[in-house]
Order: sequence, then C-alpha cells, then structure tokens
Amino acid sequence: MSPIQSLIKELADKHGRSRESLLPVMQGVVEQENYLSEYSMVEIAREMDLPAAEVYGTATFYSFLEVKKMGKYIIRMCKTITCAMKGKSQVLFAIQDMLKIKVGETSADGRFSLLETNCLGLCHKAPAMLINHDIYTDLTPEKVREILTEYMSK
Ligand code: FES
Repeated sequence: MSPIQSLIKELADKHGRSRESLLPVMQGVVEQENYLSEYSMVEIAREMDLPAAEVYGTATFYSFLEVKKMGKYIIRMCKTITCAMKGKSQVLFAIQDMLKIKVGETSADGRFSLLETNCLGLCHKAPAMLINHDIYTDLTPEKVREILTEYMSK
C-alpha cells in the first residue's frame, strides 16, 4: 500500500465512507499533501466506493481543494469588494513583484503559490489574505513585503 493509500484508508476509517464523508477525507489529503492529485482522487473513489467523476466534481467545486500541485506556502489574497476598495491591488502588486509570480502561479523554487479568493469574512480589517492557515489583515504593500520576507527566510 502506498503512503497515500494508507492515508486515505486512515481518513475513511475516521470519517466514514458515505458521500458526506467525502469532503473531510479530501480535506485531510490536502492537509497532508498540499493538493489533491488525480491519483489521490482515484484512490479516494476506490476506497469509498464512489464514482471517480463524483470525487473529481466535488474537488473542483470547492476551490480551496487544490487539484494542482501547490507551493509550500499558499497565499490567498481576498479579491472581494471591501478589500478591493481598500487597496488590495497595490498589495497584490507588491506580492507579485516580490515573488515574481502572477495569480495562479507557483514560484520556480516551489515555495509560494499565489491565488485570489472570495471574501474571507475579515472585511473590517481589509485588505486581508491567508498564507496557508494564517490570517493577515490591514495589509499595505510595506506590510506584505515584511511578511513575505519572513516567510522567505523560513
Ligand atoms: Fe475581503 Fe471581506 S472583502 S475579507
């Protein structure tokens, strides 16, 4: 059994093998692997006895379940109205400039992926972003440069 197969089996044992368990199982894989590969999706379908198309459909419906290989740090910049009005574009520009990647890309060293996301529910502290599970708010180009400098030295 491959490490992925054992992980999926473990997650299915924990969450169950019904349709409702699909999301927690997929999230468990993304937490470990950083993304859901086709191989993982096929294995989830096999382990849970569900059609592979259903697993794939669920994965692509939920945009936070990445189906592409992602960097070690996934930056999700909020693109919704309040953040947009409070300077998100300048912050995004600073990130792109510093990491030399555009939205949807991963840096050549595989460390950073940059994505946009819908409202993170942090509008009162806009503009906001996530790096993996960590929240950063009240962003400015200067502040985001400092944050990224720290991540770069990790
Ligand atoms: Fe960006 Fe709500 S609009 S957090």
